[in-house]
Amino acid sequence: MRIVVAITGASGIVLGQILVEELAKQKHEIHLIVSRGAEEVARHEEGIDLSKAKKKAFKVYDEKDLAASLASSSFKIDAMVVIPCSMKTLSGIANGYADNLIARAAENCLKMNWKLIVCPRDTPLSLPALENMRKLKIAGACILPLNMAYYYKPKTVSDVNNFFVGKILDALGLEHSLYRKWGGK
Ligand SMILES: Cc1cc2nc3c(=O)[nH]c(=O)nc-3n(C[C@H](O)[C@H](O)[C@H](O)COP(=O)(O)O)c2cc1C
Repeated sequence: MRIVVAITGASGIVLGQILVEELAKQKHEIHLIVSRGAEEVARHEEGIDLSKAKKKAFKVYDEKDLAASLASSSFKIDAMVVIPCSMKTLSGIANGYADNLIARAAENCLKMNWKLIVCPRDTPLSLPALENMRKLKIAGACILPLNMAYYYKPKTVSDVNNFFVGKILDALGLEHSLYRKWGGK
């Protein structure tokens, strides 16, 4: 699959990094956009090395490059994941304010009915953020908030990270063994 991964300036940058690693293992064609905000947050979080993710991508884009192939809906993609998604990027996508390549590529997904998975991260949530999620859901996006579960008894942060990335792979329709799925009682 040809998949766009956008990493934006919300907490949990490592999740974008792990998603790229998992997709690369499965030999998908990854088009990666890392916002300036994400680069800033990455400096404050543990164990982040975005250069590794960039090396695994088929192509890396500058968020300001609105002349890139991804800016046009004539460049067909199979899916786009925004992980983590800041409230600012969420608003840009939900309101059609495409002033960078992330919001523009997501706008193309909405225009063309391509799969768009948005993983918002903030807590608590403001009314504008909730309204923006509602708008995006109506527009056809999959809203996949980074809410952890306890039933699979996570012991480490890595277990929690794998749960989130596994949920994204589920939403993409891809196989994985990142977390134990609920199989009924
Ligand atoms: C250390 C740090 C953590 C942040 N965490 C969040 C967050 O979890 N959620 C959020 O919406 N914004 C968060 N922000 C604020 C965003 O980075 C900021 O709104 C930025 O403009 C987002 O831009 P972008 O979406 O283009 O990356 C954080 C900022 C910093 C410096």
